[in-house]
Amino acid sequence: MWSVAFSVWIWTAFTVLVPAQSNPPVITDFLQKDLVNPEDVKFSKDVGFTLPCKATGSNLKWSWEHNGTAIEAYNGRPFTLSEDGTLTGSGLVATDSGTYQCFVKDEVTGAVAFSRKLKVAVTDSEDFTLPAWSVTPNAEETAVQGRNKTLYCFATGRPSPTITWKKDGQIIVHEENSYKVPGPSLEDAFSSTMLTRKNTREVPPKWTTDPPPTNLSIVIEKNGTLECKVTANPVATVSWYKDGLLLQSSKRRVLVGSKLHFIDVNLNDTGVYQCEAGNKHGMIISSTWIHVSAWKPSFANVQFGPFHLLNEKEAKMPCKPSTAAPRPTIEWFKDGNLITYGKNSRYRLEMDGTLVIKQSRQGSRWRQLHLQGNELKG
Ligand SMILES: *[C@@H]1O[C@H](CO)[C@@H](O)[C@H](O)[C@H]1NC(C)=O
Ligand SMILES: *[C@@H]1O[C@H](CO)[C@@H](O)[C@H](O)[C@H]1NC(C)=O
Ligand SMILES: *[C@@H]1O[C@H](CO)[C@@H](O)[C@H](O)[C@H]1NC(C)=O
Ligand SMILES: *[C@@H]1O[C@H](CO)[C@@H](O)[C@H](O)[C@H]1NC(C)=O
Ligand SMILES: *[C@@H]1O[C@H](CO)[C@@H](O)[C@H](O)[C@H]1NC(C)=O
Repeated sequence: MWSVAFSVWIWTAFTVLVPAQSNPPVITDFLQKDLVNPEDVKFSKDVGFTLPCKATGSNLKWSWEHNGTAIEAYNGRPFTLSEDGTLTGSGLVATDSGTYQCFVKDEVTGAVAFSRKLKVAVTDSEDFTLPAWSVTPNAEETAVQGRNKTLYCFATGRPSPTITWKKDGQIIVHEENSYKVPGPSLEDAFSSTMLTRKNTREVPPKWTTDPPPTNLSIVIEKNGTLECKVTANPVATVSWYKDGLLLQSSKRRVLVGSKLHFIDVNLNDTGVYQCEAGNKHGMIISSTWIHVSAWKPSFANVQFGPFHLLNEKEAKMPCKPSTAAPRPTIEWFKDGNLITYGKNSRYRLEMDGTLVIKQSRQGSRWRQLHLQGNELKG
């Protein structure tokens, strides 16, 4: 039995490679609440509303859409666009109501991020009167067990007020002028009514817990998942966008329900992913910057050899770098010469990079091992 000595040539650097590219646009400041109350927007004033759309990134160009149509000229009435993307509306009238959406584009890479659609109602304040009660139930009303009892309420105001009924602080009826206390068993009926009423309340989408993360790193050739958990009634439609373009489900980007699965990521998957959830009552949108990271192969913390090869026996020499992504190509050298694995070769290379010497012969001397990472493109 004999042992052989190795000198191992390895990459010394343990480096994370992030492809050289500019940061994609990410919107960092946008109104969370719609401007739908008469006091939110000033009718016909110099400044009717101010809609911020701050963003990070490079070579940014902002644009806005009103009711889904690009706002063409900002310099005339009624809109001005400031350098940081803020849209200011002046001299606003009723037709300036509707939805406003901000788009931010990196003019060099073409990547786009956009905001949710903000609802704006422009109400003439002359036309606006505070709500006032005209009919209300008495402070005390009597209901008879086994009979129905109806309570009435009317209110005046412009725009016309909505009426909500509450029992013990809980909303039981929304937008109805009367409420029928049902019979025959007052208490039972009340609790079941409350349950069903509550369950059928319609709400705009909101994040069930948190929106998807703002940053996510996936190692090249691995899988990853983004989830967009929303609560809404009626159920929200969820769409995914990459750098502003609608995503379709594909072999490597699988859309299932509210989830976006990444399979076997490559450097092209880097970008800004947005989840848009909407129903007839509103829309919310998230923004996640996905980085695909890659590592040069490294032998840090890896014990390599010595190997004891038995004369006349098959020998195996494993080669397992501690980090490497994408999977490295492994090459073995003997006395400085690249080993090849032809039909009549004494050597075989296993899938995991292990070198198999079919029959070791005395006198062989192993000098050098050379491991090479895949070239990174991107
Ligand atoms: C935009 O949509 C709103 C709501 O549907 C409407 O009131 C408004 O007149 C529309 N304005 C334009 C210019 O399309
Ligand atoms: C009470 O109202 C319910 C629902 O409108 C109706 O089905 C029921 O017959 C009424 N009961 C009485 C006693 O009037
Ligand atoms: C996301 O990660 C990048 C690179 O690591 C960093 O420059 C950026 O500030 C991070 N953004 C957030 C919102 O954490
Ligand atoms: C990624 O997902 C695919 C399909 O679900 C699976 O075949 C593959 O083994 C996964 N890869 C990793 C590295 O988990
Ligand atoms: C990345 O995208 C470029 C350009 O679209 C394409 O040529 C290349 O093959 C893609 N790389 C991978 C690993 O899919």
